Amino acid sequence: MARVYLNGRFLPREEAFLSVDDRGFLFGDGIYEVTAAYRGRLMRWPRHLARVEKGLKALRIDYDPSELEAVHYQLLRENGLEGAPVSYVYLQITRGAAPRTHQFPSTPVPPTVYLFAGEYQRPPRERWEQGFRAVTVPDQRWARVDIKTVQLLPNVLAKQAAVDRGADEVIFVKDGLAIEGALNNFFVVFGRTVVTHPCSNQILAGITREVVLELCGRLGFPVEERPIPVEEMFQADEAFHTGTLTEVKPCVEVDGRPIGTGKVGPVTRALFDAFLEEAEGVARGG
Ligand SMILES: Cc1ncc(COP(=O)(O)O)c(C=O)c1O
Repeated sequence: MARVYLNGRFLPREEAFLSVDDRGFLFGDGIYEVTAAYRGRLMRWPRHLARVEKGLKALRIDYDPSELEAVHYQLLRENGLEGAPVSYVYLQITRGAAPRTHQFPSTPVPPTVYLFAGEYQRPPRERWEQGFRAVTVPDQRWARVDIKTVQLLPNVLAKQAAVDRGADEVIFVKDGLAIEGALNNFFVVFGRTVVTHPCSNQILAGITREVVLELCGRLGFPVEERPIPVEEMFQADEAFHTGTLTEVKPCVEVDGRPIGTGKVGPVTRALFDAFLEEAEGVARGG
């Protein structure tokens, strides 16, 4: 039976309940984080913690998340995931439960802190080698998507639009630019040059994005962090998405049009293999 963490206690999921006054429920007034674990070891926890701290500060939620690393590891153990090839921990922190007012509660309340863990099923390599399809969706999100808030309705609707159109992933488009995915970042490749939208308030600065840019450095692939016009995207040799629960996912078709040859390309493959090696290193405690 799955066990979760809620406000200081580990308990069966069925026994975890929230107040209907929780501001996460009423307003989406909170942040979340997803961290991958390889054989029970968290990948880049300090970077995830820093993003949580940034989000709490932006939302002015008074909570010190530094103790949560131990909670992540305990939760993996409680769920028997310490040996799982790939698993993840979801963390959500909301402003807490208080009578509904738009402004913050006049008397501060404790934030709600909720975590659950699960196993991640990576697509089989044969499936990965076929590549994945994406659709473009107008980016109608708010102007601070660099904060990882739980307000994900545009992302939910975009992902459903992809599913409705028989595709796997989304590419948000704003002002003629390919911005990022609904739950991942987006890259294109020209020859050996890897291009992705720069970090700004327009994208979530993905930690996998960061890892992949490091791997480009190690593999000698030149990197350009700059906006990608949609017409240019269609001229690319390769494209891929990156994310904690996406890893490196080749995108071979957008809106029914092939990218490059319409097959998974060598740069994407090299980056995925290097990413898997990096994950192996994490699993070994490196
Ligand atoms: C909109 C968006 N962009 C990018 C990412 C990728 O971030 P990360 O690699 O840290 O998982 C996510 C992850 O949830 C996301 O929701």
